[in-house]
Amino acid sequence: MKQAIFLQILIGILVCSSVFCVNAEDPYRYFTWIVTYGTIYPLGVAQQGILINGQFPGPPIEAVTNDNIIVNVFNNLDEPFLITWNGIKQRRTSWQDGVLGTNCPIPPNSNWTYKYQLKDQVGSYTYFPSTLLHRAAGGFGAINVAARSVIPIPYPIPDGELTLLISDWYSAGHKALQKKLDAGLPLPLPDGVLINGSPNKFIFTGEQGKTYRLRISNVGIKTSLNFRIQGHTMTLIEVEGAHSLQELYDTIDVHVGQSISVLVTLHGTPKDYFIVASTRFTGRTTISANATLHYAGSNTPASGPLPIGPTYHIHWGMKHARTIRLNLTANAARPNPQGSFHYGTIQVVRTLNLTLSSTKIDNKLRYALNGVSYVDPETPLKLADWFNIPGVFSFNTIKDTLTTPPGSAVLGTSVFNTTLHDFVEIVFQNPEKSIQSMHLDGNSCYVVGYGSFTWTPDMRKRYNLADGTPRHTYAVFPQSWTAVLCSLDNKGMWNLRSQMWENRYLGQQCYVRVSNDEKSFFTEADVPLNALYCGKAKHP
Ligand SMILES: *[C@@H]1O[C@H](CO)[C@@H](O)[C@H](O)[C@H]1NC(C)=O
Ligand SMILES: *[C@@H]1O[C@H](CO)[C@@H](O)[C@H](O)[C@H]1NC(C)=O
Ligand SMILES: *[C@@H]1O[C@H](CO)[C@@H](O)[C@H](O)[C@H]1NC(C)=O
Ligand SMILES: *[C@@H]1O[C@H](CO)[C@@H](O)[C@H](O)[C@H]1NC(C)=O
Ligand SMILES: *[C@@H]1O[C@H](CO)[C@@H](O)[C@H](O)[C@H]1NC(C)=O
Repeated sequence: MKQAIFLQILIGILVCSSVFCVNAEDPYRYFTWIVTYGTIYPLGVAQQGILINGQFPGPPIEAVTNDNIIVNVFNNLDEPFLITWNGIKQRRTSWQDGVLGTNCPIPPNSNWTYKYQLKDQVGSYTYFPSTLLHRAAGGFGAINVAARSVIPIPYPIPDGELTLLISDWYSAGHKALQKKLDAGLPLPLPDGVLINGSPNKFIFTGEQGKTYRLRISNVGIKTSLNFRIQGHTMTLIEVEGAHSLQELYDTIDVHVGQSISVLVTLHGTPKDYFIVASTRFTGRTTISANATLHYAGSNTPASGPLPIGPTYHIHWGMKHARTIRLNLTANAARPNPQGSFHYGTIQVVRTLNLTLSSTKIDNKLRYALNGVSYVDPETPLKLADWFNIPGVFSFNTIKDTLTTPPGSAVLGTSVFNTTLHDFVEIVFQNPEKSIQSMHLDGNSCYVVGYGSFTWTPDMRKRYNLADGTPRHTYAVFPQSWTAVLCSLDNKGMWNLRSQMWENRYLGQQCYVRVSNDEKSFFTEADVPLNALYCGKAKHP
């Protein structure tokens, strides 16, 4: 064991430059992305969309574990812009995370190059704009990371793959939506639901008898979606990079910002079938999109009735979420079993009891996390922290548990200070009537419990301490709680946010600083040579 660690350090010394730590043997994949406005017609009416290289949705990143990804992003919009890599751990380099707490935005008519490694990650992820309401106009896409060929996967290699980006959609355009939020008003129900950019036109052709992997991600901004395929069942195989227990499902919920993979075998009679994504937790109104699963050679169009989704929202949703479990014996991205970490036996050193509330400040709608409604400072937190620039944030803004009445909140720049390798319990409490989807960048946490009403320490007895799934985005049901356990072993400044973009834009986010008192490029990469500087941070 000691020898192995020594060897790793030695290899580390050989391949780490002080600036960018990569394994020289891992391949590089280069992308040049031109981000522009363009007219799109997702719901049949023209609207301004955000395109990447002319595409809506944006192009997928297809890669293999440990690949180095270099993306040169040209911002040809009229507003500052950043893309964030949802679920990509950016090991040791939150510099590449693409949120305003870590990066200065790319100004209009200029470019910036992201460089990161898909270190020890395998699975389905997404990217999307993190700035303003850009995400409501496009700029999103899939990141599909295949396992290295030497690492066996716990299911037969599928005959093919399909990426499905499902989302709610608004025809108003991102600037109109932003105006609404700036005026202190909430977003209405979406105007439609899209499957790969269309409410009803996407067609996937497969062959009878073959098995396909469907990578399904909810890239919407507000609405949980249920996914199902007429006449077919789905075998869940992956949840945000973890191999799940392979359970069969007729319908599956995918909450905002989440990604899963299922296997689907085309065992039906050769004809076309409907693929459906429909809204959940939207009261009496259900909005659906449909796509077509076309059996090659068939001439029979899909016909109704459409498969129906679950009608009980909270109860079904929570029960369903609890069925998603980790396959403990399957390999991770490395050839060690996923279950070897034994997260249930590790001592929790700190509990963050986070209450997610809506509130009014100056008579305008805001959202808060433990009584603080986040405001982005001019200077990215990461730059302020690295260069010891005072007056940007303070660790005293937010408390580990809410101490003021849930309805009240103040504006602030909230950062939790944690120590590298801390094993932390995070409890998300949702007192509101709407569903939440919470996310932590740079880390994945084991989901150990979902429950109704208010969490108490007693709930720990009901935790799943054996085979909870590590993931990056956690559903928190209405008037309920969700508990996760996180090993904070990635140094950096990490965004903890609501994936509901209305909530995040209006303050429901904060940052988690993971650090220790030694500065070492082995545990955290130096500021990138091409870093942009803004606010109080000046180019050194
Ligand atoms: C902008 O793009 C050019 C290539 O067109 C590249 O040489 C340069 O490094 C990029 N700038 C940044 C800051 O990444
Ligand atoms: C498919 O979706 C479109 C757009 O939502 C809808 O107009 C159409 O009725 C749907 N088709 C079926 C068979 O429900
Ligand atoms: C778990 O993974 C193993 C591979 O280690 C595989 O053989 C098995 O089928 C998987 N079980 C389930 C229920 O997913
Ligand atoms: C967690 O926060 C909630 C909401 O403020 C509070 O009611 C509860 O007592 C807290 N629980 C603990 C154990 O701190
Ligand atoms: C923040 O946490 C780091 C790592 O544990 C510690 O070294 C530092 O003293 C803390 N800073 C403050 C102001 O608490």
